[in-house]
Amino acid sequence: MPEEDRGTLYDMAHAAIQDWSISTAGTLEGTYGAAGVARALPDDEVHVWFAASDVFWNDDLARRFLMLLSTDELARHERAAVDADRRLYVAAHGLVRLILTEYAPAPPASWRFLSGPFGKPTAIDDAGRTPVQFSLSHTRGMVAIALTRSCPVGVDVEEMIDQPLDDLKRMVLGEHEAADLLAHLPEMHTRRFLEFWTLKEAYLKARGVGLQQPPGEIEFQLEPGKRPTIRCANANDDEPEAWHFWNAFSFSGHVAAAAVHCHSKDRMTLRVFRAIP
Ligand SMILES: CC(C)(COP(=O)(O)OP(=O)(O)OC[C@H]1O[C@@H](n2cnc3c(N)ncnc32)[C@H](O)[C@@H]1OP(=O)(O)O)[C@@H](O)C(=O)NCCC(=O)NCCS
Repeated sequence: MPEEDRGTLYDMAHAAIQDWSISTAGTLEGTYGAAGVARALPDDEVHVWFAASDVFWNDDLARRFLMLLSTDELARHERAAVDADRRLYVAAHGLVRLILTEYAPAPPASWRFLSGPFGKPTAIDDAGRTPVQFSLSHTRGMVAIALTRSCPVGVDVEEMIDQPLDDLKRMVLGEHEAADLLAHLPEMHTRRFLEFWTLKEAYLKARGVGLQQPPGEIEFQLEPGKRPTIRCANANDDEPEAWHFWNAFSFSGHVAAAAVHCHSKDRMTLRVFRAIP
């Protein structure tokens, strides 16, 4: 793509994010676009951005986002069989680029993504650096993107749809988790299951292994008013005390969880942002 086109795209994309309002528990400490300052991301914070992807049904925004994608991303987008999946893909991958640019001064279209052995992506800027760690999750109606300065991070978001708790779902719960779930009223089972499930996925994504590791090998403990803790991580050599978890945050009928692995900090703070075009 010619350099001048990149500039135009960058301005257009930037204009898109400038217009967005950021709400919920977010703290704004300067925006990269207007003030020329990257958004602050201290070592002891994890930022999670949510976007209700239905808003990207706007053709103009979808077209702008599409222009930010790499050749590989465009090819994956084309391979999606259903139009709704194509839209979600553009929303998710366009947003990743714009949000990375909020934290580091690289044009959105310039980010490259390296894939780990099991598919975990790492963002590389135009100078070959990795200024932030990120994790992406997308499901019908919602995109979630988590970022840290340098600690491995994972995020998962799922739509809250009441479904029977079948054998397959039961298999991914550990013994204590299954007992915890059954101690709740049946109408709470879907939500409780998704709280465990999103934690497991967020943890496996932070580790970069995804579902290569059976989710049933990991157990989470949920206690009212406390952050989740990991009960056991069979066959892992992680130190449980270095993991930080947050669960059951999100909005619009979705449930999300985030996981961060960080040795050096006793405390980590989660900040949640909502991106609205
Ligand atoms: C990662 C995984 C758990 C995500 O599950 P999901 O609930 O269907 O999807 P989510 O929307 O929450 O997350 C998808 C995103 O996670 C990221 N991702 C993919 N693999 C990942 C991994 N191993 N670790 C962390 N993140 C990963 C990508 O950004 C992906 O987005 P994309 O598919 O649009 O590029 C699942 O896809 C998985 O286990 N993948 C590994 C597959 C594997 O072993 N591949 C072998 C390649 S050799």
